[in-house]
Amino acid sequence: MRQTLGSTLGQKLLMAITGLGLILFVIGHLTGNLLLYLGMDAYNEYAYALHANENLLHVVEIGLLLLFVGHIYFAIKVSREHRKARPQGYAMRRSKQNRSPLYASNIMLFSGLIILGFVLLHLADLRFNLRHTVGPGVEPATHTLLVLQDPISGTVYFLGSLFLGYHLWHAFESLFQTFGWNHPRYTPWIKRLGILLAIILGVGFASFPVWGLLLRLGVIS
Ligand code: HEM
Repeated sequence: MRQTLGSTLGQKLLMAITGLGLILFVIGHLTGNLLLYLGMDAYNEYAYALHANENLLHVVEIGLLLLFVGHIYFAIKVSREHRKARPQGYAMRRSKQNRSPLYASNIMLFSGLIILGFVLLHLADLRFNLRHTVGPGVEPATHTLLVLQDPISGTVYFLGSLFLGYHLWHAFESLFQTFGWNHPRYTPWIKRLGILLAIILGVGFASFPVWGLLLRLGVIS
């Protein structure tokens, strides 16, 4: 067991398992955030319910942190292995071998690092409250809207969400391959499902800063 987990295949499996955990988290997170569109009260109720048991929330947060750190750690290890296996990577990238594992892991690593930057800013904004002065009585929905309307956060959230969609498009397909779930009949459907999920999550998250901007400009109310 230890040997398998230490091998490249084992690392790919751990990357896929942590990635699956993160996909489930972002689906849940988007669903919760969509309550903003139902009204500020619906969103506030949800946010207060989330914070009703702070101890449980901390356990979930530690789990999430482990998923993020584990996923990034194994992703870097796997892409290093690919690089070692193909030292002539740069030349290969320019050839018809565009879809080599090295190429795929490079674009995943790149989009993954952009998402990491976005998540770090996001945590500074809404988890640690480091960038905006928010008084104790301010409701969660008002705080979230304030962050979404910040020009830097709004732009980074918009672009970061599109990169998230792009990352997930490839991730979903590759997840099934890593688990060995390949079938000539189902694989094309898995690809389509991956694209659909990527669009829903990417466009879904990107819609929030756009909504914040439209509210600010008075286009909607
Ligand atoms: C762009 C739209 C998004 C909005 C409006 C949003 C909103 C929020 C809010 C309000 C919180 C604070 C929750 C609380 O403690 O009450 C939060 C936390 C968090 N968000 Fe987002 N989020 C967005 C996108 C994302 C994305 C795309 C990811 C991941 C890729 C993400 C990852 C996180 C994480 C890890 C936390 C910390 C969870 C915790 O510590 O409890 N968010 N988000």
